Amino acid sequence: MVNHSRKRLVIGNWKMHGDTVFNSELLAGLRSGIADASNCDVAVCVPFPYLYQVRSLLEGSGVSWGAQDVSRHEKGAYTGEVSAGMLADFGCRWALVGHSERRSYHGESDQLVADKAAAALAAGITPVVCVGETLQEQEAGQTHAVIERQLAPVLALGADSLAKLVIAYEPVWAIGTGKTATPEQAQEVHAAIRRQLNAAGVGQVRVLYGGSVKASNAASLFTMPDIDGALVGGAALVASEFLSIAAAQASE
Ligand code: PGA
Repeated sequence: MVNHSRKRLVIGNWKMHGDTVFNSELLAGLRSGIADASNCDVAVCVPFPYLYQVRSLLEGSGVSWGAQDVSRHEKGAYTGEVSAGMLADFGCRWALVGHSERRSYHGESDQLVADKAAAALAAGITPVVCVGETLQEQEAGQTHAVIERQLAPVLALGADSLAKLVIAYEPVWAIGTGKTATPEQAQEVHAAIRRQLNAAGVGQVRVLYGGSVKASNAASLFTMPDIDGALVGGAALVASEFLSIAAAQASE
C-alpha cells in the first residue's frame, strides 16, 4: 500500500559536477518538463559557486534548490566554511548533511552531522540527513545497528526539529555503483527508520531512498509504503532521466 499522506520529494545531488554552460542546459531541460512531475516536490542540491546561477535560472519554475553541505557554526573564523545563515540569506531551501562521501572523505561524525542539521534548522533551511551502511557493514549484518547509531544524535534534536527535516537512506554500496537496493531491502530499512521516528514522536517525516536511482527503477521503489522519494546522484545530471524519476508513478 502506498502512503499518499506524505508528498513525494525527489532531490538531485549534483555532487562536484557542472559548469555554467552545463548547468544552464540542464536547468532549461528541467524547466521544460517539470509540469509532468506535479505530484512531486523537486529540488537540486548544487556546488556552492553555482547556487546563485541556479537560483536565478530556477526562479518561478517550482523547482527548489539547495546546498550539499553546511557549517555547524553560526559564524566566525572558519575559513572555507559556509554558514546556514549565509545560505538562508539568499533563499536557499535545502542542505544535504552527512552524505556518505562527507562522512568517509572528511571524517564527519554522527554528532557533527546532527550539529549541522541543527544549524540548518536554526536558519530555516531544511536539512536532508543522509544515513547508510557500507558494504562491509551490510555483509556483517550490521545495517540496522549502523543506521540506529547514525540517527541517535539526530533523534536527540527532539520532535519539533525532527518534524522539519528529511532523512535519506543511502546504502553506501549502492551509491554510484549501479547496484540499487531492491525495493524490499530498502523498504525494510525505511520501515525501521520510520519506527524510530515514530518512537521519537514524529510521524510525517519524509524518508528518501538514494543509491543508483534511475528512471527504470524509481517506480518500483516508490511503490514501497515508507519510501517517500529519492536522492538522485548520477541520474540527476541528465534532465530527461531526472524528470522521469520525478514523474514516476508508483504502481498500486
Ligand atoms: P547515485 O548517488 O544516484 O549516483 O548512486 C546518490 C547519492 O550519492 O546521493
